[in-house]
Amino acid sequence: MHRFTHLFEPYKINSVSLKNRITMAPLFTASAHKDGTVSSLTIEHYKEIAEGGVGMIVVANAIVDESGSVSKYSIRVDDDRFLPGLSMLADQHVSFYRCCRCAFSG
Ligand SMILES: Cc1cc2nc3c(=O)[nH]c(=O)nc-3n(C[C@H](O)[C@H](O)[C@H](O)COP(=O)(O)O)c2cc1C
Repeated sequence: MHRFTHLFEPYKINSVSLKNRITMAPLFTASAHKDGTVSSLTIEHYKEIAEGGVGMIVVANAIVDESGSVSKYSIRVDDDRFLPGLSMLADQHVSFYRCCRCAFSG
C-alpha cells in the first residue's frame, strides 16, 4: 500500500466529492427485471460493493431507449415508471457516489 498513497484520500471532480479514489467500473450483470425495472438483486449487488468502501460506483448499462437495449435484463432509465426502483438504488444508506453509464446499442 505504501506506493498508493493517494488511493484512500478524498477527491473532488468539480462539485462532486468522493471519499476516496476507488471506482467500480460499469460491469453489466443482467440483474434487472425483464421489464427494465430495478430488482432486489440489483440493489443487493450494488449495496455489497458499496459496503466494500468504494468512492464511486458506475451503474452499468442504463438503457435510454428500449430499441437500443442489449439485454432484456438491463436497467432502463427512459421512462418515469422506472423511477421508484432507481430511487431505491440511489437511496442506499451507504456512503458512496452514484453515477450511471447510459447505453444505446444501435
Ligand atoms: C463482465 C463485464 C461486464 C462489463 N459491462 C460493461 C458495461 O455494461 N458498460 C461498460 O461501459 N463497460 C462494461 N465493461 C467494461 C468494464 O467497465 C471495463 O472498462 C473493462 O473491464 C476494462 O477495465 P480495466 O481498464 O480496469 O481493465 C464490462 C466488463 C466486463 C468484464
